[in-house]
Amino acid sequence: MTNNNPIGVFDSGIGGTSIWKAIHNLLPNEKTIYLADSKNAPYGQRTKEEIVALSKKNVDFLLEMNCKLIVVACNTATTNAILELRADYDIPFIGIEPAIKPAANNSKTQVIGILATKGTLNSELFNKTAEMFQNTKIIEQVGYGLVQLIEDGNLNSPEMTQLLESYLQPMIDANIDYLVLGCSHYPYLIPQIKKILPKHIHIIDSGEAVARQTQNILREKVGFTDLEKSDPVFYVNSNPEVLKSILDYKYPVTEKDF
Ligand code: DGL
Repeated sequence: MTNNNPIGVFDSGIGGTSIWKAIHNLLPNEKTIYLADSKNAPYGQRTKEEIVALSKKNVDFLLEMNCKLIVVACNTATTNAILELRADYDIPFIGIEPAIKPAANNSKTQVIGILATKGTLNSELFNKTAEMFQNTKIIEQVGYGLVQLIEDGNLNSPEMTQLLESYLQPMIDANIDYLVLGCSHYPYLIPQIKKILPKHIHIIDSGEAVARQTQNILREKVGFTDLEKSDPVFYVNSNPEVLKSILDYKYPVTEKDF
């Protein structure tokens, strides 16, 4: 089964490129279209209804481009809207959820930390998953302000360091041995986070798991491309410079209202 249509990927902004990179590394021949809804970021403080409406708008745009599969590269959109998307559209969706399972299963201290948006931590989907790990203490922290600083291109600002220290120190004090990054923007903060966390604390995100799941769904249901090579396409509806820089200026970025 061959399918040369593109894989669509969207996020509230530039963070989902951390997921896109994992997909592109694993499936370099696949054509990909990435949508950064930076104009409406952050999603994390929005209501569920708003997140569902924004997610549908992004999906409509990607479907106009004939995407064969859509990756919701945003924990907030997945935990608030993926059931609605699956109910309304006849196309496979792959979502991204905080990797609590591998953290809880491997934790020796039985205490893990999770940093995510308010929208993710308050969602029913996240809370259902968290309830499955009754033997593990999960320290939840909303990453207030982090997404906005990343979207504004202030990754390495003193304000970022201060916020991260204030969010992580209580987790260190509580003896976590795993930190789950529950937002696709946060992998870009790993260098700063490593400066704060003691070395024995593992940091995990969901990028590679999502890429493997994408590969499985293509194999089982949708079909791989037989193209030798495809150039990825990026759309953003505000502040294109930050997206270009997070992609190391390697790919063209189109600014477009959607
Ligand atoms: N990157 C997103 C996530 O994974 C959303 C951040 C936001 O827009 O608040 O949750």
